[in-house]
Order: sequence, then C-alpha cells, then structure tokens
Amino acid sequence: MTGSASRAVRLTGWGRYAPAQVLTNADLERMVDTNDEWIVSRTGIRERHVAAAHETTASMASVAGLRAIRTAGLDPDDIDLIIVATLSPDYWMPSTASLVKEAIGNSRASAFDVAAACSGFVYGYATASAYITAGMATHALVIGAELLTRFLDYSDRATCILFGDGAGAVVLSASDEPTATVGIELTTEPQGAYMIWLPAGGSKSPSSAETIARGEHKIRMEGRETYRFATRTLASTALAAVEKAGWDPGDVDLFIPHQANIRIIEAVAKGLGLPMDRMFVNLDRYGNTSAASVPIALAEAVNEGRVAVGDKLVLVAFGAGFTSGAVAMEWTADPTTGPSGDAAVRDGDVIIRAPVDWDSVDPIPPALVEILNRPLPVDLDLSDVVPGEQPPGRDQKP
Ligand code: ACO
Repeated sequence: MTGSASRAVRLTGWGRYAPAQVLTNADLERMVDTNDEWIVSRTGIRERHVAAAHETTASMASVAGLRAIRTAGLDPDDIDLIIVATLSPDYWMPSTASLVKEAIGNSRASAFDVAAACSGFVYGYATASAYITAGMATHALVIGAELLTRFLDYSDRATCILFGDGAGAVVLSASDEPTATVGIELTTEPQGAYMIWLPAGGSKSPSSAETIARGEHKIRMEGRETYRFATRTLASTALAAVEKAGWDPGDVDLFIPHQANIRIIEAVAKGLGLPMDRMFVNLDRYGNTSAASVPIALAEAVNEGRVAVGDKLVLVAFGAGFTSGAVAMEWTADPTTGPSGDAAVRDGDVIIRAPVDWDSVDPIPPALVEILNRPLPVDLDLSDVVPGEQPPGRDQKP
C-alpha cells in the first residue's frame, strides 16, 4: 500500500469476459415449462452465457481483470488493490480475489472479496475509491464475476431463466486531476434478506446430504417482491448519487443499470423522466450476471462507442440483501483503447492453480451437459477476406 494525501479517483481501464457457450430461451423450453415469448416479454432476456467445465469465477474474473489492466496501459504489478465482487466464489475460502491475484501475475496487491450480491461491483467500486482517496492504493482492480449457472435449480422456471455467467472489471487510479467519481450512494434493507437467498452451505445450515436432498444449495427468489424493491430502489439510489454529484437526472448521458429485467430498467427510465436511449441495455444477450452485470455493460457500452470523454455516467445496481448502490462519474479515459485491451488477453492466458492432491467433482449441472457438449458458436476472422470488416478484437464476442 502506498501514498498519503487525499487524491482523486479516475477510471482508467475496463474489460469483460463471457464464456463462449450460450444457453438460449429455446434451450430452456426443452428443460422447463416456459417459452421464448414469456421470457422475452417478462424479462427481455433472449440468451445467456454458460461457463465450461474448465472455467470458474476466478478464471473469468482474471481474464476480465487482465483486459482492464491492459486497457489502462498498466502491468499487473502496478495494481496494489484487488477487489472481487461475487456471490458465486470458487470456494468459501480462500477468497476469489486471492486466486485472481496469482493468476494475473501480481505480487504486490492486497486482495479480498466483497459480498453484496448484484450490487457487489458498485460496493467494490466505492470501497476501492475510498482506498485511493485515503492514499491506501494507487491502482485498484475492481472485478464483478459470477458463475451462477452452477447454483440454479433447473426445475424452477421462475429463476433458471434469469441468470448467466461472466465477468467485468475496471481499474481505478489515483489522479492529481479533479475527481471524476463525483457521487456515490449505497443502501442496505435487510427486511428483504430472504427474498433472494441460498439456504444451505453457510454456518446456519452446513451442506449435507439432507440439505442437498432438499435442494437448499440452489438460489431461491421471491420474484414479485424483488421486482417491487428493484423498481423503487434503482431509481431512488440513482437519484441520490446524481444529487450528490450536483447534477439533475437529465444531465446524465448514460445510465449503466444492473441488467436484471428490461421492465425494471424501463420503470427506472420512466421514474427519472428519461427516454430509454439514456439506459444501456445488454441483458438480452447476457441475462442477469449479478455482480458482473454492471461492469460487463459498462465495458460493452464504452467499446460500442456509446461513451465519450466528458460524458456523465451513472452505474446503478440492486441485489440480494436487499442492497443497492450507484456511482455518478464523469468519463475521462480514451474510449478507443478498450477493444485492444480485450484482444490482448485470451481466456487461455490465465491459469488458476489447482490444489495439491485434490480435484473437484464434475461441476456441470446435469441439465447443462448437452448444451456444453455441443459445438461452440463459430467466431471467424474475416478481416482479410471481407473488405471493411472489423479487425479481430473490435467486435468479437468477449
Ligand atoms: N415461464 C412461463 N411462466 C412462468 C415462468 C416462466 N419462466 N416463471 C413464472 N411463470 C408464471 C408464474 O408461475 C405465474 O403463473 P400463475 O399466474 O399461473 O401463478 C405467472 O408466470 C406470473 O408470475 P410472476 O412471478 O407474477 O411473473 P412476473 O411478471 O413477476 O415475472 C420475474 C417474474 C421475471 C421473475 C419478475 O418478478 C422479476 O424479474 N423479478 C425480479 C427478479 C430479479 O431481478 N432478481 C435478481 C435480483 S439480483 C440478485 O442479487 C441475485
């Protein structure tokens, strides 16, 4: 840890990663009593990514994290703080951040996880911001990463259609320039604690044959209550961050909301009196990736050219707990550096060291075996043969 004086915070790097295999609504139609029309009209989700057997939350987090470091023009050892937000860690201990630190080749950072469910990335962002402002870190890597498809009940049509896997990351750096993170709001409302939860595996109910027989190792959710909380709190939390920044909602160029449900995002836009083109949406292709959702959306928005230097952005999320969080910030980085950061790191570039004398059981839920065994979507580089085609890295799948 370094530094002493109070300093400003700037977002200097961003990156994302999503597994290659995709689970479509048509796939889900073959698994539970649902249909594409219901899922699209009630949620906006069309497909979500599914991690392969060799992937874990730490491996996805490491790829997204390295991409963010490359985008920032830094080396892994420039990072002195690593925070991973996740509700689906590789293990209860060690922390996923500890595994990420080793996988990205960092020797100096302190590393820990934060648990605030889908708001986790925003909580991590706020924590890293405070470290930098206090002079306790200079370059912080904040990652949201989730492998939720291994914690879903594929007989529960109300939850298994919603979630997907992936990771997103940012680098926050100390700066002598005026601050670019200008308003942060975090809330926790524990009366909603059991509206989204995972009953077994903790100290209240350690994993056992009985808890597994009861299906208590899978995510449970009261959808309607969660929906009500989400629509109310996303707007109010975003508004509080906007007010702390001294802005009006209409000043904000782009909101990057948690990608849970298109109807929730539409309600937020309506509540703030803004058109939907101020809301970035990519949930149709990712589903709800919990803590990964906001940083994936941010990286995608920037790389798609939706963000320019000087733009006012609001990152806003809600999640189990119930928690919510929002960050109002002014964009200062060169947006064109993102795709090259992505292209510089492939998923094979990181290795999560396995424990000695131990191997996991097959991690793939039986319901997903067929999907994960089918051929991957083909990703051809046509830049040499099709005039005008983007070079690799510009628009390839993350
Ligand atoms: N396919 C078809 N029908 C379904 C499905 C499905 N996949 N799921 C539920 N239904 C049925 C229900 O059984 C119900 O039938 P009934 O009327 O005969 O009882 C009907 O559809 C309506 O169910 P509702 O639950 O009222 O549907 P709703 O419009 O509320 O949509 C949804 C459900 C999408 C889950 C919504 O409530 C929602 O998005 N809630 C918020 C969830 C969320 O964002 N969770 C993430 C929190 S973040 C975190 O920290 C993990």
